[in-house]
Amino acid sequence: GRTRQLLSLDDFEAAARCVLPRPIFGYVCGAAEDNRALADNRQAFDELALVPRVLCNVAQRQQGVTLFGQRYASPFGIAPMGIAALSAYGADVALARAAAQARIPAVLSGSSLTPLEEVMQAAPDTWFQAYLPGTPERISALLQRVAAARVRTLVVTVDIPVAGNRENNLRAGFSTPLRPSLRLVWDGLARPRWLCGTMLRTLIKRGMPHFENSFAERGAPILSSRVQRDFSERDHFDWSHLARIRRQWQGTLVVKGILSPADAAQARRHGVDGLIVSNHGGRQLDGAVAPLRVLPAIAEAAGSAMTVMLDGGVRRGTDVLKALALGAQAVFVGRPFNYAAAVDGQAGVAAAIELLRAEVDRNLAMLGLTGCDQLGPQHLLDRRLPWPLVP
Ligand code: FNR
Repeated sequence: GRTRQLLSLDDFEAAARCVLPRPIFGYVCGAAEDNRALADNRQAFDELALVPRVLCNVAQRQQGVTLFGQRYASPFGIAPMGIAALSAYGADVALARAAAQARIPAVLSGSSLTPLEEVMQAAPDTWFQAYLPGTPERISALLQRVAAARVRTLVVTVDIPVAGNRENNLRAGFSTPLRPSLRLVWDGLARPRWLCGTMLRTLIKRGMPHFENSFAERGAPILSSRVQRDFSERDHFDWSHLARIRRQWQGTLVVKGILSPADAAQARRHGVDGLIVSNHGGRQLDGAVAPLRVLPAIAEAAGSAMTVMLDGGVRRGTDVLKALALGAQAVFVGRPFNYAAAVDGQAGVAAAIELLRAEVDRNLAMLGLTGCDQLGPQHLLDRRLPWPLVP
């Protein structure tokens, strides 16, 4: 198939660059301002070296983890990504189905273009990420809709009080509302597989894409200027809103976008079940600390009361294991799975999941481990410091 030559998650980026029009590719790969947070997400992993143990008999190894009472086959999942259905036809369902088949978690974005009911039908274990509408009544209505769709795990993203400064989007010719600019049309003509296989197919089979999951009711079409207004009413949110959500939401509640141990402690006091330590893939506050750097302190603040997860820059099995060694129970991966959907739909996502699964398996063995729960700080060193100086 189309993914036979793709040997690592990064290979999917190069392949997707060839498939997608530049405005769409730019929207996925881009981050905020000078991409410092984006770069540091990778840098933080690269600064850590692994310390393997040998002669451990690792024949009986398995990488499964339990999150919120549910057993998953691997310690990684698919992060929520808005507008994914512009990267590939039916991308939201493709991502959720591939994850379900591999028995890993997938999170549907609140800025997605597929009704959550449809995704839940295709993959009933999918988690749902909400961007909260601006009034308590509308938040309640959205939560009722989400519960009625039988979502069990709600992820509330809290790192967008205002939209990040995505200069890169503008430079690449992408904006919300989406403008069918000369550039997009021209680029689309040069990418016939995307134009016919994704865009025209979507328009013919499903009609004009709308933001389907921002509210209890259907949101704005992607071309409408209403989009901007809908997204610009979140700067007044505070912990009292989260407290209200906790009172209303019976299921598992995860807060995404925490970087401060003090906020982790706040979340814990509010009865939150889990955290995703995240700087939104570097797409919000540029220069925000890399999640990996604050993970140990946040894991400590969480104690055993909350499940701590992380996303941002995870590209290799070794990255997954480094995060677990610093206290994460699981990690999420964003962009590479979007690229995989663009390259080959559900099969592409399945291929990417399998690559990462195989890497985790191989790396566990080479570290001398048979399970993820055995990872700890003893397996890591700061690669810039010589051995005796490291605590
Ligand atoms: C995102 N992210 C995101 N997060 C969220 O909570 N809701 C959303 O709708 C989106 N949308 C979105 C779109 C695209 C194209 C990207 C790349 C990212 C952030 C995402 O969930 C995750 O935090 C990062 O993508 C993780 O970093 P990596 O793995 O992409 O480096």
